[in-house]
Amino acid sequence: MKTILVTGGMGYIGSHTVVELINKNYDVIIVDNLYNSNKIVLKRINIITGVTPKFYEVDCCDYNNFEKIFKENKIDAVIHFAGLKAVGESVNLPLKYYQNNLISTLNLIDLMNKYNVKNLVFSSSATVYGAPKSVPIDETFDLHVTNPYGRTKLMIEDMLRDYCFVNKDFNCALLRYFNPIGAHKSGLIGENPNGIPNNLMPYITQVAIGKREFLGIFGNDYNTVDGTGVRDYIHVCDLALGHVLTLDKLFTNSGLVTYNLGTGKGTSVLELHDAFEKACGFKIPYKIMPRRAGDIDSCYANCDKAYKEIGFKAQYNIDDMCKDSWNWQKNNPDGYTE
Ligand code: NAD
Ligand code: WQD
Repeated sequence: MKTILVTGGMGYIGSHTVVELINKNYDVIIVDNLYNSNKIVLKRINIITGVTPKFYEVDCCDYNNFEKIFKENKIDAVIHFAGLKAVGESVNLPLKYYQNNLISTLNLIDLMNKYNVKNLVFSSSATVYGAPKSVPIDETFDLHVTNPYGRTKLMIEDMLRDYCFVNKDFNCALLRYFNPIGAHKSGLIGENPNGIPNNLMPYITQVAIGKREFLGIFGNDYNTVDGTGVRDYIHVCDLALGHVLTLDKLFTNSGLVTYNLGTGKGTSVLELHDAFEKACGFKIPYKIMPRRAGDIDSCYANCDKAYKEIGFKAQYNIDDMCKDSWNWQKNNPDGYTE
């Protein structure tokens, strides 16, 4: 049984990946400082899988306490989700983002080196493509970022590329996620943002439960099918499975690999809104608002490489994603509570 250390494993994508790892018989250790998550997630993981993973409430920026985990456990691979991810906040508080995202990762690479752990999956983002020259986007596209959050992802990718260049026995996957939504079928784990949601799906679900009055749609004059922004939404359970497939690849001594994880299909804001109405069975009021600074018209992935090299293909469609997001939100109107 291989042991996987999951940083940020109490968070949205991390918790779903932990469930998938346990289902595939991995032994899982979670490290999370609970900055953007809740301890109840551990109980929920237990209800879903029958297993409570070992959990360390530790900040990955705290080298000494982070090191204890490597001292106390024999780790085969790390999946590194821990990080701050709010684009708007990163513009206002850039140092917070550089400090948290870069230092935690530098500590991690240093400890992996010290304790001879050779396999790493890193949560990168489609944000590293900036405004792409065309869609769909493949992994060879130019990288350029437009905000401090995105810059931390690109800097970490660069660090890992440099590290892999001289450490040929180090296996590392840079996974560029598109727009994860949806939740585990059980409705026990899901996305649980603090405050006003920045992202589209949690905003819609909060309108649906009556926490917000209406959805603001940021612009309807983009060069897209209906004028609203087009994105590649991927079910978080598909994304979780992508991590398990990626681990299989790393364990073949892959060296450095980079994959887009999306569905390859673009969906507009209005299309997602309509699909959600179908899933919940009632109207979601919306208003057209001005464009949001920094948004682009279309962003969706070419996922051929992940399919060819690791057999990754998203199974869930937009209707499934809306159904599962709604199921999670309706069962947990106030997020994680006992
Ligand atoms: P999340 O905020 O739900 O999960 C991140 C977890 O990391 C949280 O539980 C948080 O408490 C923890 N964390 C943050 N800093 C930490 C630190 N210094 N030490 C220990 N724990 C720390 O976010 P998510 O949506 O699950 O995203 C996971 C990763 O995927 C992030 O790196 C994010 O940038 C990346 N990503 C997310 C998306 C998305 O839309 N959700 C898209 C692309 C990439
Ligand atoms: C999707 C679409 C908005 C909210 C972000 C990050 C990206 C990655 C994924 C981490 C856009 C529109 C949104 C709302 C709206 N995260 N929208 N009303 O911007 O594609 O990507 O999350 O790496 O880096 O930038 O996702 O969900 O914010 O927006 O009309 O209240 O929905 O304009 O067209 P985005 P999103």
